[in-house]
Amino acid sequence: MRSVEVCVSPDLIPCHELEGKIVVVIDILRATSCMVTGLGEGLAGIIPVEKLEECQKLKDKGYIAAAERDGKKVEGFDIGNSPFSYQDSALKGKWVAVTTTNGTRALVHSLKAKEILVGAFLNRSALVKYLLNKEEDIVLVCAGWKGQLNLEDTLFAGALIDSMYGTVEIKNDSSLTAYYLYERAKEDLFAFLGNSSHFNRLKGLGIEDDVKFCLKEDMYDVVPQFVEGKLTCALVEIDK
Ligand code: MLT
Repeated sequence: MRSVEVCVSPDLIPCHELEGKIVVVIDILRATSCMVTGLGEGLAGIIPVEKLEECQKLKDKGYIAAAERDGKKVEGFDIGNSPFSYQDSALKGKWVAVTTTNGTRALVHSLKAKEILVGAFLNRSALVKYLLNKEEDIVLVCAGWKGQLNLEDTLFAGALIDSMYGTVEIKNDSSLTAYYLYERAKEDLFAFLGNSSHFNRLKGLGIEDDVKFCLKEDMYDVVPQFVEGKLTCALVEIDK
């Protein structure tokens, strides 16, 4: 049986073997929720970069540039990291360069994987369906917060394990923790996250609506795939 393991922070990626496996990068509040929203709303693609300087260079080349640090839009860039910014019809068909505090870092540090996907509650079912059509072991890489675990990403990792329960071997205690966390929280995710650090950071910035949107399920039937530095929609295989 294929295995699933959870890496609770990009800083722990060296503790996991990614070669030959499928990585799903998770940053619920809000990077991967934004990526799913953008591609779901018709973006041509996204170029995730770790550093602000890289994003500025792409902006100088004419790309629309999104930059967020500590939950706030970075001065001088076109948009921040709200999913609502990605619902702007002016972005349809465009490429967007993106850098965020943790999410883009998790992506660019997962390059040893055989395949890198992006997950959020917003594309949960599409992602599960895609994964069930594959055979490789899975590593769920959580973006966390500046090297530490955050509640929402590990919670979604647990939601994915819950959706795939019985088809995957739960390989490590962080996977078991994630699964138990979701079983405990699934009746009311918003309430469960009420005391979490980034939720309250965003609430302090007056963007609680972003949290509510990022917790909606299956708003988009897309599976973002990160290939050669570009994030676009994976071709979803017809059911085998
Ligand atoms: C992150 O990269 O940690 C998040 O996307 C931050 C945010 O959007 O608030």
